[in-house]
Amino acid sequence: MIVGVPKEIKNNESRVGMTPAGVFELVKNNHTVYVQSGAGEGSGFFNQDYQRAGATILDTIGQVYAMSDMIVKVKEPIPQEYSLIQKGQIVFTYFHFASSEALTQAMIQSKSICIAYETVEDSDGSLPLLTPMSEVAGRMAIQQGAKYLEKPVKGKGVLLGGVPGVSPGRVLVLGAGTVGIQAAKMAAGLGAQVTILDVNMKKLRYVNDIMPSHVITEFSNEFNIRKHIKTHDLIIGGVLLKGAKAPNLITRDMLKDMHPGTVIVDVAVDQGGCVETTKPTTHENPTYIIDDVVHYCVANMPGAVPYTSTVALTNVTLPYVLKLANMGWRSACNLDKSLAKGLNIVEGEVVYKEIIEAFHWEPAVA
Ligand SMILES: NC(=O)c1ccc[n+]([C@@H]2O[C@H](COP(=O)([O-])OP(=O)(O)OC[C@H]3O[C@@H](n4cnc5c(N)ncnc54)[C@H](O)[C@@H]3O)[C@@H](O)[C@H]2O)c1
Repeated sequence: MIVGVPKEIKNNESRVGMTPAGVFELVKNNHTVYVQSGAGEGSGFFNQDYQRAGATILDTIGQVYAMSDMIVKVKEPIPQEYSLIQKGQIVFTYFHFASSEALTQAMIQSKSICIAYETVEDSDGSLPLLTPMSEVAGRMAIQQGAKYLEKPVKGKGVLLGGVPGVSPGRVLVLGAGTVGIQAAKMAAGLGAQVTILDVNMKKLRYVNDIMPSHVITEFSNEFNIRKHIKTHDLIIGGVLLKGAKAPNLITRDMLKDMHPGTVIVDVAVDQGGCVETTKPTTHENPTYIIDDVVHYCVANMPGAVPYTSTVALTNVTLPYVLKLANMGWRSACNLDKSLAKGLNIVEGEVVYKEIIEAFHWEPAVA
């Protein structure tokens, strides 16, 4: 198969769909890989790295799309890319179709095979191609939170680890899923006192088993949240209700109970946030302040660490890319039920029913 790796052209996206290690594996399996010149630069991978791994570098994005059977990328195609996508071409990337009817219509018209990273699903319901980005965001949440606790950026002026003779900072983590556990681990590693809340007792038991004793678990309810926001310096929002808006666990009136300079990092911002006052921000302007509480609500946190994010993402996508290249999409999806869940639009037909529901289309459209 001929596999193409275009440069991401969405604003502020520095990740790339494949590393030189991925190229090496594909070439070893007798596939051809075309990489657009400069595609990996934002992530620290240069043309010569790809060439050494066996790729051919092409000058333009148009050439990559025109010459490839399968496109492997990161972000959903943006309007400039719509017309580049070929009939029958496999496009393997994040799509998030339910959030864009225009993209959905364009991909239907392209008659391509759209396999979405975010809907590839394991038998236990987990989403293996989303997990690494949650891991990155969870770890980063503490790094960012620690920074914004500093006084010059309007934080409380607390050093998370404390020093001998001074208590460490306190971190409240809402949600003990992927984001929450990674955040708790980083905060604990810095020496902070950590409280982690969830409604899922299995998750709390797991955290209790694996974390050091300065990570305390509690059941998530309004009473406990109201109690803890008064004493914690940094609050991490890592809650997810699958397919729904995140619940507002911290309401606007609660901000007044927090100390001035408390920092909220609402990682769940991409699902509407678990804080009533959350609104999406960017890496250029990541924070805003309401009632003296610093809000950090960047919707694409992994974008700030493209090297780590690219490698983490491609570690989990590559086995699927290899399967698709070796077997073709039909056989690969017949054999691998997790991958089959990634099929969203096939040759003009929407095959993922949540997309039809999201736009209130009649099922006949599919
Ligand atoms: N901002 C970013 O850049 C970025 C990056 C990656 C992930 N995310 C988002 O972070 C969020 C968390 O992702 P995840 O992978 O950790 O999800 P996850 O499913 O692994 O964990 C979510 C946890 O929230 C818990 N939960 C549900 N209701 C709760 C409540 N009322 N109180 C406390 N906990 C509750 C669940 O039991 C679960 O353990 C998602 O919205 C995800 O999209 C954002």
